[in-house]
Amino acid sequence: MTDALLVIEKLSVSYRGGGRAAHVLDGIDITIGRGQSVGLVGESGSGKSTVAFAMLGLLAGNAEVSARRAVFDGRETNFATGEATALRGTDIAMIFQDPMTALNPMFTIGSQLVDIQRRRFPKESRRKLWARAEAVLADVGVPDAAGRMHCYRHEFSGGMRQRVVIAMALLVEPKLLIADEPTTALDATIEAQVVEVLRRLRQRTAASMLVVSHSMGLIAELCDSVVVMYAGTVVESGPVRAVLHRPRHPYTRALLACEIDPYAAFDPAQDLATIPGSVPDLVRRPAGCIFAARCPARQDHCTCKPPHRQASSGQAYACWLEAA
Ligand SMILES: Nc1ncnc2c1ncn2[C@@H]1O[C@H](COP(=O)(O)OP(=O)(O)OP(=O)(O)O)[C@@H](O)[C@H]1O
Ligand SMILES: [Mg+2]
Repeated sequence: MTDALLVIEKLSVSYRGGGRAAHVLDGIDITIGRGQSVGLVGESGSGKSTVAFAMLGLLAGNAEVSARRAVFDGRETNFATGEATALRGTDIAMIFQDPMTALNPMFTIGSQLVDIQRRRFPKESRRKLWARAEAVLADVGVPDAAGRMHCYRHEFSGGMRQRVVIAMALLVEPKLLIADEPTTALDATIEAQVVEVLRRLRQRTAASMLVVSHSMGLIAELCDSVVVMYAGTVVESGPVRAVLHRPRHPYTRALLACEIDPYAAFDPAQDLATIPGSVPDLVRRPAGCIFAARCPARQDHCTCKPPHRQASSGQAYACWLEAA
């Protein structure tokens, strides 16, 4: 893709500890087009946040990063040297899972919304930055934004705090907005409201988005395409509609089967589907298909690395089953 904002090829991350190395990401490929919204989905521990953190230079000190190639906005970037750190807060902004950790309890929301803009607009007056902040706060649906600018973190409810965090990310006018589980800390009603704010934003901003979530439902609401991760590898990717309509990889199918359908009548007798087995040992990754041990469609040759297949729907998947 020539007009891609971000291209990452073969991103690998290992965490060292106790004389062992856990290979948490094993050659991840991700491309995000300009103005496009991409979802990153997978079970807990599949490495979604590690991908986001690597892009921002936020990985823990025991992480070892390598990538064959990384290009952001037409410039080669080296994740291993922490070059990506320079993009944080200017070209790339992040909406974290827990708004409590993103907001400082000691300062008013207004002063934090002003400070976040300083790197992006170093010459702008405080008055101008304050006015911008107030306007964006109103825009993300905080009532009485002018008055609320003078309040502290504890004076906001969970949903309002998450709106503040979204405003914070918008104020730096990033080229890429990363939202890591933006609604998991919220209850269902508030979650719906925050999703609505993100959806409106998606329609109006020219920024690209990377939405990290374990919920395919959320990804479907907010994204054009999806990357499905399992144990640090990409097992399937493609347009959201195509993947939802006809998931090709057995893991994607299993993941979708585990989702609660909000429109289905509640049947207390029916058990929620789960994927049997557990994620593989990341210290000694299996040589063949990473999902084989839990796969209902497993065959003998799944002990060898599966081929990468392309479907006419735009889906790409790694599986031995031809018409998986
Ligand atoms: N600093 C660290 N040292 C060692 N292992 C780590 C470290 N940080 C993360 N991990 C491991 O890396 C793996 C991937 O973690 P990551 O947080 O990226 O998963 P995730 O898909 O975001 O999960 P979740 O949905 O729970 O947020 C996990 O097995 C985790 O335990
Ligand atoms: Mg995570």
